[in-house]
Amino acid sequence: MTDNKQVLLEQIKADIVSNNVCPDLAQAATNLVMGDGNIDADIVLIGEAPGKNEDLSGLPFIGAAGKFLNEMLASANMQRTDVFITNIVKYRPPNNRDPLPAEKAAFWPYLVRQLDVIRPQIVVTLGRHSMEYFLPGVKISEVHGQPKTIKFGDTKLVIVPLYHPAAALYNGGMRATLIEDFIKLPKIIDILKNEEENTKNGTTTTG
Ligand code: URA
Repeated sequence: MTDNKQVLLEQIKADIVSNNVCPDLAQAATNLVMGDGNIDADIVLIGEAPGKNEDLSGLPFIGAAGKFLNEMLASANMQRTDVFITNIVKYRPPNNRDPLPAEKAAFWPYLVRQLDVIRPQIVVTLGRHSMEYFLPGVKISEVHGQPKTIKFGDTKLVIVPLYHPAAALYNGGMRATLIEDFIKLPKIIDILKNEEENTKNGTTTTG
């Protein structure tokens, strides 16, 4: 199963290259940053776009924001190998500018394909750039940390919108909020797994 998933994920990467997605970004980039972590994970985290360190290494979230992300994972008793981490835009925008709407739109179908392969129970959006695709029209200040169930293709998906870890780097209040939101994730997973069990067993309530 995992082998097959790996092959399918490699195919998505190859398709981004052969379809010449965002050629201007591609030309300036060192690496196409597809994602990292456990392809059988229950949780997929989705950021914005690679920065300089990520572009050079080919891995998402390894700079300052990534260090804070590792801390948040640890505070929820998780490690990077327990989750899969990716971005909506997979090439670094020049000088780390915000990704353009056209760039996000160009990469969106490939993100959908990644999620179709990995089939997580929860998608955690990090910041508004990935959130707006799953939860259009909502304000992050009003919904952060709250699980929202959406229809996603032929299935349902739970989205947990969080602030972007970079927003917390120089803001202690935001840092505390993010950690508070993050440590809810294992509990949300437990609730979903219980619901799944109960559905299998024909029980209707989770208690
Ligand atoms: N910020 C992001 O959104 N993604 C990364 O991979 C690194 C920093």
